[in-house]
Amino acid sequence: MYCNRMEDIAYDSSVFLFRGMTMSSVVVSGSSSLYGEVSIQGSKNAVLPILAASLLHSGVTVLKDCPCISDVSDMLLIMEDLGCQIKWDNNFLIIDATKLNQIPVTGDTAKKTRASILFLGALLSRNKHAVISYPGGCTIGKRPIDIHVNSLKKMGALLEDEENFLTCNVSKLRGTRIEFPSPSVGATENILLAAVLAEGITEIVNAAREPEVTALCEFLIQSGAKITGLGTSCLRIVGVDELHDTSYQVPPDRIVAGTYLTAVAATSGYAVIHGVIEQDLAEVIYVLRKMGCLIDIRENKAFIKRKGTLQSPGTITTEPFPGFPTDMQSQFLSLMSVAYGESVVEERIFEARYNIVDDLNRMGALINIEDKKAIVQGLRRLRGTEVVAKDLRGGAALIVAGLTAEGITVVRNTDYVERGYVDICKDLRNLNANIRMIKEA
Ligand code: EPZ
Repeated sequence: MYCNRMEDIAYDSSVFLFRGMTMSSVVVSGSSSLYGEVSIQGSKNAVLPILAASLLHSGVTVLKDCPCISDVSDMLLIMEDLGCQIKWDNNFLIIDATKLNQIPVTGDTAKKTRASILFLGALLSRNKHAVISYPGGCTIGKRPIDIHVNSLKKMGALLEDEENFLTCNVSKLRGTRIEFPSPSVGATENILLAAVLAEGITEIVNAAREPEVTALCEFLIQSGAKITGLGTSCLRIVGVDELHDTSYQVPPDRIVAGTYLTAVAATSGYAVIHGVIEQDLAEVIYVLRKMGCLIDIRENKAFIKRKGTLQSPGTITTEPFPGFPTDMQSQFLSLMSVAYGESVVEERIFEARYNIVDDLNRMGALINIEDKKAIVQGLRRLRGTEVVAKDLRGGAALIVAGLTAEGITVVRNTDYVERGYVDICKDLRNLNANIRMIKEA
């Protein structure tokens, strides 16, 4: 890991209840209310495409508040292989992409992260050539890249499918009108990276509107790109000859903020959370208020207090932004389990994102999957036990469940959580949670 982080609490064999555990686990002693103040880290899903974007020009990019998480470290390993000079200076990340080589991006690191596919648009723009493996990412669905590939072909790129990787060449990317069959976040970002230095004008119709896409556009504009339509489903890019050095402030991570708001709500707590941009979390805040939380947001600071019993919000359906974010769905399964009444969750973005239901049911929840919907019975008294994270947000949701449960919960495989949370245990200890991370020696 690039970041010089303090090691978490050393290995403690006394709490290991099982064999074959992976590198890290989180031990939570639950059922007390969270209270206190916490500041939100930089956004993972904003910074990952910006890292790829830093390859677009032969120069230096400085990112302030870049989160020190393993998905970032993985991207930086690939960038260093490509010839970038990388330096951390406190919470500044300095990238010098003056010299890039043409090595393939096909190693294990590229295969395990979803964001590695974003090097495709950037390297085609910069080098007119890329050899890149199919990406990995959380096992929440098939996660194809057909929209990325078909769109780049429309811009003149030749992409050869070589089984496990793609060989891509182009003489010059040409701007054109591209209409997405569905608003893919990653495909919108890849085409932005391909279009900013392309010949002519590119229009992306049915573009994703996530705040992380808008952050990428803001970074690119700051670097000299010409993009209009930010925040809308139609982005228009006028290709320019080159970009230039820039320094950019990474926005706070809205999903980390939403996770902690949910944890406070689940434990009948009260807290001040610094770094909550209301319009980026509007749907989540609306549902938490509907469930009975008092939330006041002033100058990107959220004051949250749960009053009385949480009420079921009825049905929540995940949708592209500005709808309810799929990355908050698992955390709400945990929250709904302790709310009054039956709730329904309909996951419409990914076809396999109910990975935590069996573990929550072993903690005492009562959730059934019917017709791709999760039917959640409320007012369940969760009990601590051993559970296993199977993806990033599912791992965070199991920690939220552990915070409300009676007794000790051990969440295994929390390497997944470290992909997106700089230090979830430290943040939650700031809210007076009794929680620690155990790393195998
Ligand atoms: C990004 O993934 C995020 N990851 C995900 O966050 C997030 O859940 C997702 O957007 C939706 O908001 C990063 O930004 C690194 P998509 P991405 O392309 O780009 C289908 C987290 O927990 N699709 O918008 O992969 C796809 O299968 C992660 O931080 C195609 O069919 O998401 C899915 O069903 C998890 N063909 C839907 O579109 C394609 O070519 C949305 O995918 C691309 C996508």
